[in-house]
Order: sequence, then C-alpha cells, then structure tokens
Amino acid sequence: MDVYEAIATLRSMRRLKPDPVPDALVKRVLDAAIHAASGGNMQNWAFVVVRDAEKKRRIAEWYSDGLRRLMASGYGQRPDLSPEQAAAAERTRRSAQYLADHMAEAPVLIFCCLMLPPGASGDVRTGSSIYPAVQNLMLAARAEGLGTTLTTLYSFHDDEVKDLLGIPRNVVTAAMIPMGWPMGRFGEGPRKPLREVTYIDSWGNSPAW
Ligand SMILES: Cc1cc2nc3c(=O)[nH]c(=O)nc-3n(C[C@H](O)[C@H](O)[C@H](O)COP(=O)(O)O)c2cc1C
Repeated sequence: MDVYEAIATLRSMRRLKPDPVPDALVKRVLDAAIHAASGGNMQNWAFVVVRDAEKKRRIAEWYSDGLRRLMASGYGQRPDLSPEQAAAAERTRRSAQYLADHMAEAPVLIFCCLMLPPGASGDVRTGSSIYPAVQNLMLAARAEGLGTTLTTLYSFHDDEVKDLLGIPRNVVTAAMIPMGWPMGRFGEGPRKPLREVTYIDSWGNSPAW
C-alpha cells in the first residue's frame, strides 16, 4: 500500500472482529514499530502483547471504568460545538463505548511502554521517544488491513494494569493498541484544512497555497 494512502486512511477502528490475528502479523507490525526514531537512538521501548482472555477481561473492565469517568466529567459535551461537531462527537462517543464493551474480544491488546532514565522529566517531549513507534505500528497494521486505535483510558487504572502484566512501576505505559480485523471500512477522517494550521516564517503568516 502507498504510504500516503495508509496515512490518510488510518482511522481509529474500534469495532473489531474476534477473529484471530496470527503471531506472524503481530511480529510484522512490531518490527515496523522498532524502526522508529527515538532520542539518541536509545530505543528505550518495550511492547507487551496481551492475548490471555482473563487478562483482557480485567483490562476491559478498567478501561470501561476509565471511559465512564471521562464521560461523567462532561467530556465532549461542550456547548460551543456546531451541530456537525456535536454529531461527530456523539459518533465518537458511541464507537468508544462499543470498544469499551467489546475490548476483551479484541484478539490482541498491545501496550507500548517507555523506560525513562532516572530523573527524567515528564514534559510533553517525554512521549517523543515512543509515539513515533506507536504510529509506525498503527500504519503497518493499516497496511495489513488490521484495525487499531491509540487508547489511553486504561491509565485511570495504570497501577493495576502494570501489576497485572508485571510492568515495573517506573516504566511508562504510553498507549494501549487493541488490534484486530475491522468490521467497518477504512476511510479518511475529518481534519482541519492544512492552511489553517500552517504558518510561513512567522506565527500567523498563512501560506499562499
Ligand atoms: C493521545 C491519544 C489518546 C487517545 N485515547 C483514546 C482512547 O483512550 N480511546 C479511544 O477510543 N480513542 C482514543 N484516541 C483516538 C482519538 O479519539 C481519535 O484518533 C480521534 O478522534 C480522531 O479519529 P480518527 O483516528 O478515527 O481519525 C486517542 C488518540 C490520541 C492521539
């Protein structure tokens, strides 16, 4: 698949079939992940592939609780949304709920972890040594026809997840990717126009193109 097509059609695919995903494919997408850049080429990442049914069930429970808490906080219910934006937010909410309700049925859950050096600060740049690998993983999955979603809502129960999977407490779980064969079709997601988010030479100076 052309890389631009894979990028453009990499949607969050939350409705997944329970059909198995062979180890060879899991290995392939993880191999794409570890070709990513990392600060100083330290490659301080680790990936925990969860297939065990009981472990997936417990993670799904914690994930559902995370979604429940997020929704209870009023997430996505901003009064300033246009009717189109509100409808899109409602679609995302419904599909997020579906993923939460069916997460244990996803054939694979992949935790993408980062080992921070002692004393490292937790600012926004911390993630830059793991999210390129996460994106590579998802793009490779897209090229294989596998659906993924970058999720973080399990982090309401991060300590419990780490204990369940034996992940040391000083390791950061950057994302959990449920992966499987999608029920729906891939397509392009809504994005702001490029011109709205690009400046030339100075902030605010929009391009002529
Ligand atoms: C940092 C980050 C965290 C996210 N966490 C979740 C999550 O916990 N659950 C979920 O269903 N989607 C999650 N998403 C997916 C976004 O909701 C999704 O990418 C966005 O709505 C755009 O939709 P699209 O990927 O289908 O184009 C997350 C995305 C990012 C980048």
